[in-house]
Amino acid sequence: MPELFTWEFATNPYPAYAWLRAHAPVHRTTLPSGVEAWLVTRYADARQALADARLSKNPVNHGAGSGRTGIPGERSADLMTHLLNIDPPDHTRLRRLVSKAFTPRRVALFEPRVREITDRLIDGFAGKGEADLIHDFAFPLPIYAICDLLGVPAEDQDDFRDWAGMMIRHGGGPRGGVARSVKKMRSYLSELIHRKRADLADDLISDLIRASDHGEHLTENEAAAMAFILLFAGFETTVNLIGNGLYALLVLPHQRAQLQSSIALGETALLATAVEELLRYDGPVELATWRYATTSITLGGQSVAAGDPVLVVLAAADRDPDRFDQPDLLDLARRDNPHLGFGHGIHYCIGAPLARLEAQYALSALLQRLPDLTLAADPDDLRWRGGLIMRGLRQLPVNFSQE
Ligand code: HEM
Repeated sequence: MPELFTWEFATNPYPAYAWLRAHAPVHRTTLPSGVEAWLVTRYADARQALADARLSKNPVNHGAGSGRTGIPGERSADLMTHLLNIDPPDHTRLRRLVSKAFTPRRVALFEPRVREITDRLIDGFAGKGEADLIHDFAFPLPIYAICDLLGVPAEDQDDFRDWAGMMIRHGGGPRGGVARSVKKMRSYLSELIHRKRADLADDLISDLIRASDHGEHLTENEAAAMAFILLFAGFETTVNLIGNGLYALLVLPHQRAQLQSSIALGETALLATAVEELLRYDGPVELATWRYATTSITLGGQSVAAGDPVLVVLAAADRDPDRFDQPDLLDLARRDNPHLGFGHGIHYCIGAPLARLEAQYALSALLQRLPDLTLAADPDDLRWRGGLIMRGLRQLPVNFSQE
């Protein structure tokens, strides 16, 4: 039985996941927080669990434990009322309302802004010959993008960058600085919603205020919780998709050359399958999929008692050889790729179109403008954030010819 949650595991969890899939596919373990939970590692079981209505998302009635939602420092009852923490019928109502505001059309109209933000960030380091692609690129891009989309004024966006930086650096526990950052973000968003209500604009927060369903609107608290979860769920995930994706391309030169030449030819098909494959191969979300059994159930042949926490390990399911051909191979042109990187079922990621847009443009702009990027560290020396929730690098130092 491999040891879980060690430094080696944080660096490369895939051998441990292969062992679990083969020998203990629904495995009870003690998390570093002390909470006992079931880990689900096979693709078929994972997909079933994500869509199983007997597994509830609502932590309120299901015992203690910290960091369940993946939101460090999150404690206040009103912030808890967000999509990732509720079940139908409340989930159905809130999801319908937010879907009216956060439409694929709004995301598509946002493409020029994503290009501007990306290009501006690359301008910031292209003349230097070196950069940390997490700090200088993957980290700020999603925070500026989601702030823009929500309608946070440009002059306030650096505050979000600071608060988000605090959360990402110290994520996983409600430490003082993190709790303060969450509080500041929350009160800023409440005030912003209050102001926007009086002066609706063309942005997502205004659309959240406008959205109605059979005469029902979001309350101000619900709108604040919704804006917060969009920021929170859409931020570190996207940082890690871009960071993990760039890392994979830097250490696998053949795949990277294939993508680079396709981008140079102006093709988009390989870029689209590449982002899906990077989500499968080394996706951002490892365990952020808390659920609680509302009754005793059988999962992958294992009995799970009522009240037990169940964590679907997306990163393990997406390397299952029973579902994917040569799962440990990064095949950027992979066609049959129903990965679970964005989840599955009623909680399927609502931000997937935005994440895809950001990742596709980020990879293509960077590889095009800095074609000779090389990793400026030994891969073994790179540090992964040892969180259970997300998988991502702390730094990604690179060298390149100055632009
Ligand atoms: C849900 C992954 C980006 C907002 C989810 C879930 C996953 C996921 C796995 C389901 C969790 C579960 O079932 O327990 C990702 C990844 C992203 C990403 C890998 C980037 C690469 C975004 C973005 C946004 C967003 C950009 C918003 C701006 C949400 C929300 C939910 C969600 C609100 C909850 C939906 C619900 O419960 O109905 N995401 N996400 N995500 N995501 Fe994302």
